[in-house]
This record gives sequence, C-alpha cells and structure tokens, in this order.
Amino acid sequence: MNQHLRTEPVPFIDIAAQRRRLGKSIDDAVARVLTHCQFINGPEVIQLEAELAAFSGARHVVACGSGTDALLMVLMAKGVGRGDAVFCPSFTFCATGEVVALTGATPVFVDVDEATFNIDVDSLKRGIAAATKLGLKPKAIIPVDLFGQSADHDAIGAIAEAEGLFVLDDAAQGFGASYKGRRLGTFGLATATSFFPAKPLGCFGDGGAIFTDDAELAATLRSIRVHGQGSDKYDNVRLGLTGRLDTMQAAILIQKLGIFEDEIAARNKVAERYARGLGNVVTVPRLASGCTSVWAQYTIRLPKGISRDGFAASLKAQGIPTAIYYPKSMHQQTAYRDFPVADGGLPVSEALSEDVISLPMHAYLDEPTQDRVIAAVRGALGA
Ligand SMILES: Cc1ncc(COP(=O)(O)O)c(C=O)c1O
Repeated sequence: MNQHLRTEPVPFIDIAAQRRRLGKSIDDAVARVLTHCQFINGPEVIQLEAELAAFSGARHVVACGSGTDALLMVLMAKGVGRGDAVFCPSFTFCATGEVVALTGATPVFVDVDEATFNIDVDSLKRGIAAATKLGLKPKAIIPVDLFGQSADHDAIGAIAEAEGLFVLDDAAQGFGASYKGRRLGTFGLATATSFFPAKPLGCFGDGGAIFTDDAELAATLRSIRVHGQGSDKYDNVRLGLTGRLDTMQAAILIQKLGIFEDEIAARNKVAERYARGLGNVVTVPRLASGCTSVWAQYTIRLPKGISRDGFAASLKAQGIPTAIYYPKSMHQQTAYRDFPVADGGLPVSEALSEDVISLPMHAYLDEPTQDRVIAAVRGALGA
C-alpha cells in the first residue's frame, strides 16, 4: 500500500457511500414530494409510519420532528411534571435527561453496566430508593439502548411493574436492534427513536418516531404533534408542539428503510471483525445474551495508563477519526449536576467517560479500511 492510501482520511460515518448506493431512488422520492407539494403530513408520512410499524412489530407509529421530541411528547402525553421522578442512565446523550427536566419533573441519574454500557438494574433500584427519600414520586424509567445495543428490557420491565412505573425506551441509537428475538419498539409503554443523519437509520435532517401498542397514547401523541389539536382544528384540547416529521424526510426514510436490514448485517460484520482484530489489546464491546446491536457506535475502552488524547492523535495522524461518546456523563454536566443520582454514586459512568473512544463504524466500511483501523489501533498501543 502506498503512503497516500495509508493516510487518506477514513470517514467516521459514510453517508455519501449510502447516498451513492441509493442514487436515483432518493432523488425520485424527493421529486415526487416536490410534485405533489404536500410538505406537511403528506402521503409519505403515513406510508413511513405503516412501514416502521411492520418493521418493528409495534401497533402504532407516530413520526415526529426529532428523537428529542419523540421522548418529550410521550412524557407530555403521560402528564409527567413537577414532583415526579424519572430514572435514566447518566452515561447517555443529554436529550435522555433533558426532556425530563423540560417537563418540570426531576431526572434521577442511575449507573450503567460496565460491559454493555446500558442501565444497571441494581443502580436503578437504588435510584428509586433515593428519589423516594427525597419525597419525589417515581413515575417512569427511560432506559437507553446505547451505541445500538438493546438494554435488558425484561429486568427493567420487572422493576417497572413492581414499582408501578412506565417505561419509555430511548432507542435513538438502537432502532433496528432486538431483545430476545423481538425488535426494539415493542418494549415498555413506548419507544422513541431519532432519524438524525448519523443514526443507523437517519434522514437528511432532523426526524424521529414513537412506537407504541397503546392506541389511546398514539391518539394523544398525534394531537400533541400538532399543538394539542382536538377534533375541531381550532379548539386545541391540550398543550402541544410543532412536532411533525417533514414529508420530504419521510420520503427519504422510506428508501433507506428498504436497505436497513442489509445495512444492519453489514455493520455486524464490521463489529465482528473489529472484535477479532482488537479483542486482545482493548476492551471491545460485548453483546449481552439475547441482545443484538445495530452498532450506532463501535466504542472501545482503552487500557489503564494509555492517554486517550495521545491515542486519538496517533489515529488522526493516520487519517482515522475517532469520537468520544461521552466525555462527561449527564450528572457531571453543568446543567444537570444538581439533579439527584442513585445512592452509592455512579462510578461506572464516571470511569467510562474517562476511557471510552469510538472508532469509525458504518455499513460501507470495506475490509481493507477495517484492517487499517485495526492496525492503527494496535500500533498506537504498541501491540
Ligand atoms: C440516546 C439519544 N437520545 C436522544 C437523542 C435525541 O435525538 P435527536 O437528535 O433526533 O433529537 C439522541 C441523539 O443523538 C440520542 O443519541
């Protein structure tokens, strides 16, 4: 391999490669919207909702403006507010806890499991105890299917049932993954996902969706999506949002959904190959029994004593980008540090924030490029 090929930058996520694969089908889909001009709630939105329902197994799908809106709309529909406690992992993207605080409720941060990065059920129990001691009313759990891997939904569901809480699954990164043979979208009361462009199923802007089997909740969500409208368009019956998914984005997503299964399989092949090439030099992600992943991120943990900055710089010099998800857990961030955490603190979240780093991951990462990434990681560690 010549010097040029060895240092040519590798994309972290290659949206352009997918664009080339889909080519004219995306252009044609967008052109159809430009022809019918139903830019809001057009036929593609209804078609996409039906296709997402069929894909996930959920009875109802409500497309919306973003993953954040998807989470917020469910909390609004359930009347979550002041005095309520909602439990979520601290090691996650900020939107998970942000939506709770936006309703006036209190996010209570709990720790995650070291191997899967997902909610630790013992810490969840300690979080519920801490909230009760503070006089808050435990109301809901928001597990996150972090980096694409399903959380332990049976264990979380059992705690929710015992404590009388509802579960809102944050599958912004995990949509397409499954738990014990069932696709995400079918666990708990409702599931939220994001179609942000970098997500495994992403559109060309902002977008999201909510999945539920509860017909009444779906009807409320459809009302909240349009300012809380009732059957009379000008008599709004509750507070709502401008929470719709654009027809154009729905048209794009329909095309992308058609190749999503194939892309998930390709991502899994990359993950398997990374694990084989790197498993003896770093801590590679582990799939828990019964869980699959869509590998939104391929996140490794560096051995103790290795400088993360130095490691990232070494890869960058070889044209290989990395990213840190997340350098601070939510409870360590300025806006969230006054919210309660589970008794015993969140040592795993804090340790992960210190030593995780994510490698390029997408469905179009060919084997020579994977080998370059593997060689660069091993080289940076002197292996
Ligand atoms: C775990 C998680 N939750 C929620 C969101 C919010 O999604 P959006 O950016 O579409 O609002 C994201 C997006 O990055 C996420 O990763």
